[in-house]
Amino acid sequence: MAIVGGSGYAGGEFLRLALFHPHLEVTQVTSRRFAGEPVHFVHPNLRGRTNLKFIPPERLEPADILVLALPHGVFAKEYERYRPLGKVVLDLSADFRLKNPDLYRRYYGEHPRPDLLGSFVYALPELYREALRGADQMAGAGCNATATLLGLYPLFKAGLLQPKPVFVTLLISTSAAGAEPSPASHHPERAGSLRVYKPTGHRHTAEVVENLPGRPEVHLTAIATDRVRGILMTAQAFLHDGWSERDVWQAYREAYGGEPFVRIVKQKKGIHRYPDPRFVQGTNYADIGFELEEDTGRLVVMVAIDNLVKGTAGHALQALNLRMGWPETLGLEFPGLHP
Ligand SMILES: NC(=O)c1ccc[n+]([C@@H]2O[C@H](COP(=O)([O-])OP(=O)(O)OC[C@H]3O[C@@H](n4cnc5c(N)ncnc54)[C@H](OP(=O)(O)O)[C@@H]3O)[C@@H](O)[C@H]2O)c1
Repeated sequence: MAIVGGSGYAGGEFLRLALFHPHLEVTQVTSRRFAGEPVHFVHPNLRGRTNLKFIPPERLEPADILVLALPHGVFAKEYERYRPLGKVVLDLSADFRLKNPDLYRRYYGEHPRPDLLGSFVYALPELYREALRGADQMAGAGCNATATLLGLYPLFKAGLLQPKPVFVTLLISTSAAGAEPSPASHHPERAGSLRVYKPTGHRHTAEVVENLPGRPEVHLTAIATDRVRGILMTAQAFLHDGWSERDVWQAYREAYGGEPFVRIVKQKKGIHRYPDPRFVQGTNYADIGFELEEDTGRLVVMVAIDNLVKGTAGHALQALNLRMGWPETLGLEFPGLHP
């Protein structure tokens, strides 16, 4: 398999997972800036574990599986060049996540290949497991969309929520916006910082709305913290009158009872009562919790994931396992660290 954009955060994380997957052999990793350098030049955690060197994208040769981890818009523009280079293509960008061209236009502008929207399967196994088994073109979900969708999907599916807007707050980390310096990424002056990153207009809103039953009204706000990895999502919604905490439990159990990487975290008391990004760091787990305010019906849903694993490379590898007919959990079963 080959990884395009392997010097970035998403590509580097896919490489880390792929190197320890028993059925994958990574033969090519591209970077324009670091062509000729060993991959550990950029990813020091992989030192001693691989002799791969970066090649420039122009030198890519056809591979069984092509993973693209390019900045937004590059793959869509260069689809004709990259598509023939992989029998199975797994794109981690937002280029082909959406099906609806109007929704795409509203959040991203004109799509260079609107004819291809809808030809990729959204690579979130908890929602599209069966479709992924036969998909040659897969589009990885956005990290914030993953956290939001996993938290809200069972509630909309079960029809538990009042038809009111749902408000989502995402505490995000510095790796969420790529390795290139950006408003969300690391900078010495940002140590210890907590900043509003995207109060309105978050692009992942589009894929959240498109993939929730009934296309409900959902509003996202992102706050940048100085954590390196992790997302903590909280959503505020209102339950229909008459529904109780037991119904919420039931909805989550029905949706996720058989899911290998979703854990419901709900204890009445104790020190680890709520999902915490620390305990899923480096893993493919999504921890989901909730609390109901009985007298108002306000339900607070909480989801913790690692943005680069369950939010990107992990769910993408899970989807690839499905596509290749391998056990879905292969190469992804490691637990997090504690303490
Ligand atoms: N970070 C996250 O948490 C996250 C989560 C989900 C999805 N994603 C998606 O994954 C993609 C990559 O994100 P990232 O965070 O890894 O960004 P990044 O760290 O900036 O990495 C981008 C990669 O693409 C390469 N590249 C840039 N422009 C290129 C071009 N025109 N042609 C060929 N290669 C090019 C870069 O290497 P060279 O410049 O050396 O070639 C680098 O390897 C994005 O589309 C993002 O939306 C990211």
